[in-house]
Parts: sequence; structure tokens; C-alpha cells
Amino acid sequence: MTSRWAVLISGRGSNLSSLLDHQDEFQISLVVSSSPTAGGLWKARRAGVATALVPLLAGSKKIDWENLSVLLREKRVTHICLAGFMKIVPPSFVKDWQGRLINLHPSLLPAYPGLESIEKAHADGQDLGVSVHFVSEDVDAGKIISQRRCLKKTEVRRYSLGLAEFIVHVAEQRLLGAAVRFLQTSDRIRK
Ligand code: GRF
Repeated sequence: MTSRWAVLISGRGSNLSSLLDHQDEFQISLVVSSSPTAGGLWKARRAGVATALVPLLAGSKKIDWENLSVLLREKRVTHICLAGFMKIVPPSFVKDWQGRLINLHPSLLPAYPGLESIEKAHADGQDLGVSVHFVSEDVDAGKIISQRRCLKKTEVRRYSLGLAEFIVHVAEQRLLGAAVRFLQTSDRIRK
């Protein structure tokens, strides 16, 4: 069975964009954003992919995770990729999509989970890299699918933070595409 992906975003969507460039290789069925002004929404629409905003609980700014699952199922989504999605996913949603929910993170996990990973690793003079992992109940802690080191710690100090960030972001886009390609057939999906 071919996977049908939903990509969840919050911002500019450069990683989404790199996936959209390869729609002949994998099927992006829906892009869901936590922000109505996310640049990624325009990129998706331009590529002819359906978009939606995360549903919110009535009278609240909190995400209605149950309804999000309903929406994804209505669109016959089989797998979800969090690409720059800046919201913490609750255990109920993780359980619902276990083994079919992946996240991209700009560090060599388990090093530097959470926010500002590149800045922290750069300031510490540690290896810089990127990870794609299954989402688990703990933030940035699920089983690693794929990782790539971009700069060795012996090189990091020779690069400004801006240049290091650029290198990491390019590596993110490559790694994410490779991981989604790898997970294309459901018999390869294991948690
Ligand atoms: C990426 O670095 C991602 O790993 C991080 O947020 C950034 C999002 O970039 N969590 P974009 O929206 O895909 O351009």
C-alpha cells in the first residue's frame, strides 16, 4: 500500500517545500498548519495540495487533537510528518498514530532535544546534525529512523552560527526526503 502523507507545519515550510518537490516519489495528501500565516500554506496551495488549519477546541486556542485525527482519516492519510510543527503532541494523538508519526529535528538526538538546538550545539562546539525519528510521548525522544552529521565538532568553530544553521537546514531537507522515501511502503514501518 502506498503511504498518503499529511505534513504538519507552523512556519515557513522549507522542509515541506523539499517534500513537495518530490511528489512524483511520495504522495502528500494534506498540509495542516497551526498558524494561518504560515508560509508553508502558500507553498502547498501553489503545489496543488489540500491545506487545513488545525481544529481548535470550541472557545479556546488549544488544538482539538481528536478532531485533527478525524480530519486526517477523512482525507485517508496513513502517515504524518511533523516538519517544523511547533506544538507538543499529546500522548493520545501519539498513540492514535503510533509508528506512523515522524518528526524532523535539527540535532543529533538524543543530544540537544527541544528548542534552539543548533544554537546550543554550536555554542558548545559539538557535532551538528539532523535526525528523523518516530514521535513518542516524550519530546524528541522516539526511535531514530535516520541521522546525518553535517559538521564535526573539530570544524564547528570555523563556521559562524548563520552558516552552520544554513548547512543544517539543507541537511534537514535531504534527510527528511530520504526518510519519507524509505517509509513509503507500509511493510517497512516499525515502531
Ligand atoms: C526546522 O529547523 C525544523 O527542524 C525545526 O523548525 C524548522 C522549521 O523550518 N523544528 P521550516 O518551517 O520547515 O522551514
